[in-house]
Amino acid sequence: MSAVSRTGDRKVSVPEILSRKTLLLNGSTEAKKITCLTAYDYPTARLLDEADVDILLVGDSLAMVALGYDNTLPVTLDDMLMGVRAVRRGTRRALLVADMPYGSYHVSVEESVRNAIRLVKEGGAEAVKVEGGERRIELIARLVEAEIPVMGHIGLTPQSVNAIGGFRVQGKTSESARQVERDARAVEAAGAFSVVLESMPRELAARITAKLHIPTIGIGAGPDCDGQVLVFHDLVGLTMGHTPKFARRYANLAAEISRAANEYCEDVRNGTFPSDAESYHSPTEVREESPDRQRT
Ligand code: KIV
Repeated sequence: MSAVSRTGDRKVSVPEILSRKTLLLNGSTEAKKITCLTAYDYPTARLLDEADVDILLVGDSLAMVALGYDNTLPVTLDDMLMGVRAVRRGTRRALLVADMPYGSYHVSVEESVRNAIRLVKEGGAEAVKVEGGERRIELIARLVEAEIPVMGHIGLTPQSVNAIGGFRVQGKTSESARQVERDARAVEAAGAFSVVLESMPRELAARITAKLHIPTIGIGAGPDCDGQVLVFHDLVGLTMGHTPKFARRYANLAAEISRAANEYCEDVRNGTFPSDAESYHSPTEVREESPDRQRT
């Protein structure tokens, strides 16, 4: 981490994230919504950390946006660890949360705790995120008992893509909304310090946010959550293919990268890159020697 040249800013911690909720619930003038973005590599982590983002999430969305898979299921714990270590090296101030990938917490609670410990010990994560509500009560409680802060994730849980038949908005019927509310209460009661609410009606997310004592972090869940999270590639216009309607694009890096690559190819082909100024030169005395003498 010594490569990061920031000084002065306060480290964001789990207790601080929890205290934001108290301020938000009390309507304090000090209350500040929580900002969270995904990151998967060192330079992005550095830039986002320096941009004052509260939480950097090494999401398993890595599978789709960085590795080119159709869904998040194929990404492994080792893939995630590589991302978490890189983001750790670039992060000074933000809270670093690592997603537990599909399969790393689905066999037994013991194995899940061991896998979460790897993300903390080998990756440097400060908390882990697990998808699922009521069915994760035991796991969340065991992780918390093992000193690992947990961020829950309910509503649309992308690792359930095969079970729910696609990436669909959740909680649109009364029955489904009641289930999402039960999931929210379960995650909080099990000891999670925050919960992601993904793809649900804003009215439902607002209701959950008003009821919980832990912060809600929304993605496709409207503006009333205690914080928001976006996938970095959606934010900067690097997502290939479909982007959901909630993903506001703040930059168009895809166009900028294409322009740079096209210009480079053109310059190489027409001989204007590299220029003389971009070349190394032999010292004059070497330059003036005959090729034969240089060889001896
Ligand atoms: O993997 C991810 O990026 C996520 C966020 C969308 C919350 O889980």
